Amino acid sequence: MTPLIRSSLEQRLIEHIDRYGPVTFEAFMEAALYDEEHGYYPTRRRQPGAAPVGTEGDYFTSPVTHPAFGALLALQLREMWQLTGKPTEFVAVEMGSGDGVLKSDVTEYVEAELVDFAKSFRYIATDLVPPEGPSAVERVSAMPAGITGCVISNELLDALPVNRFIVQAGMIKEIFVGFENDRFVEVVGDVANPEVEAMVQPFLRSLPESYRGEVNLRLGYWADSVSAVIDDGYVITIDYGYDRPDLYAPTRVDGSLRCYYQHTLGQNPLRRIGKQDITAHVDFTTVDHTLMVNRFGRVGKATQSKFLTNIGIEDFLSDVRRLPSSRKLTRIEAEEEMAGIGALIDPNGLGRFRVAVHSRGAQANGEAASSLTGLTDGGPPLTGGHPAPRLESARASHARLLRAGNPFSQTRKQVEPTPTWEQLFNDGQ
Ligand SMILES: C[S@@+](CC[C@H](N)C(=O)[O-])C[C@H]1O[C@@H](n2cnc3c(N)ncnc32)[C@H](O)[C@@H]1O
Repeated sequence: MTPLIRSSLEQRLIEHIDRYGPVTFEAFMEAALYDEEHGYYPTRRRQPGAAPVGTEGDYFTSPVTHPAFGALLALQLREMWQLTGKPTEFVAVEMGSGDGVLKSDVTEYVEAELVDFAKSFRYIATDLVPPEGPSAVERVSAMPAGITGCVISNELLDALPVNRFIVQAGMIKEIFVGFENDRFVEVVGDVANPEVEAMVQPFLRSLPESYRGEVNLRLGYWADSVSAVIDDGYVITIDYGYDRPDLYAPTRVDGSLRCYYQHTLGQNPLRRIGKQDITAHVDFTTVDHTLMVNRFGRVGKATQSKFLTNIGIEDFLSDVRRLPSSRKLTRIEAEEEMAGIGALIDPNGLGRFRVAVHSRGAQANGEAASSLTGLTDGGPPLTGGHPAPRLESARASHARLLRAGNPFSQTRKQVEPTPTWEQLFNDGQ
């Protein structure tokens, strides 16, 4: 048998486990995703053309699906600027920007369409692992402090390392990562951090034997950094997840941990260490609590589908639908545009994501906060007279896949059966 070649990350993990015993899943996930040399994000960002997100990557996110996402957020940001009394500087700070696609879509739309807002608007995109070389995305140390504006994140919180637990004999136990018989394995032991237990204890009586789940203890640190950034303004958090009672529903017996590798879904994080993405659904109750501790109030929440519909995504669809008759696009091109825009509100896919909005400060609180168009059903949209942005050719390949039906139907050799959007986001619920 050919001996297994292990990366230096795997070697280091093995040595650590040999010396100190099994590690928490949080520490394992931190290493697998963010180790500077062999972690998933640093490795992918170092390889030209191997961004983790997009047609060539491992999964799609809303910004890479269609620039309409950024344009609609731009409209919502302009309304926030208006509601906060049109300050001379209104800063959007994005955390976990990845390749910076959302920044370019928002700023291009603001410059092209929202000229009154453009002179006051600044967008700072940051990431723990910014792309190599010149980039519009800065290190997290570039985050400003005390701004008036909005902190935005899209699929940041699901990428934070989590602890895992399992219910055994009616008790909460922790799932650690060990190394036995030449393999990384799960090791069950007493909970190492009492906060893990505290989070799950209220639900324990309803959870069946062998129930597995995750606890994200990093959300508190995230809320602290959001708090340092914003004095007066909003926080828009977009991700997949639930409030705690749904996250720890007795039916969700296998938890929400997922792995993505070349657009295929897996559930074994101990394979392909550093080569696959690992995510867990977001606990939106903790998002609320940790922001409230930092004196933010909850403005409201909506599904992504509702949020974008309230802002005016249907106007964008109608706009694109008219283009072939005016000969500005071929029918096929218009279909690609519609597939991309439509995917943002797909009730079985990205449309199911949650948008949570919080606010803090003199201007952003009170009546102004509760009248946000994105969270108000049935009101007038913000799109009035503004056109839909167009797909660039690089992204059209992705829209072509969407038009073909299933965005995960790749032509490359597949390693596992291709999941549908429904399987990805339904969790068997
Ligand atoms: C799933 S990707 C989403 C990228 C992008 N927002 C999008 O929607 O395409 C998660 C991103 O969060 C970044 N990230 C993880 N932890 C972070 C942290 N503590 N601060 C800032 N960025 C972080 C990762 O490096 C990665 O780029």
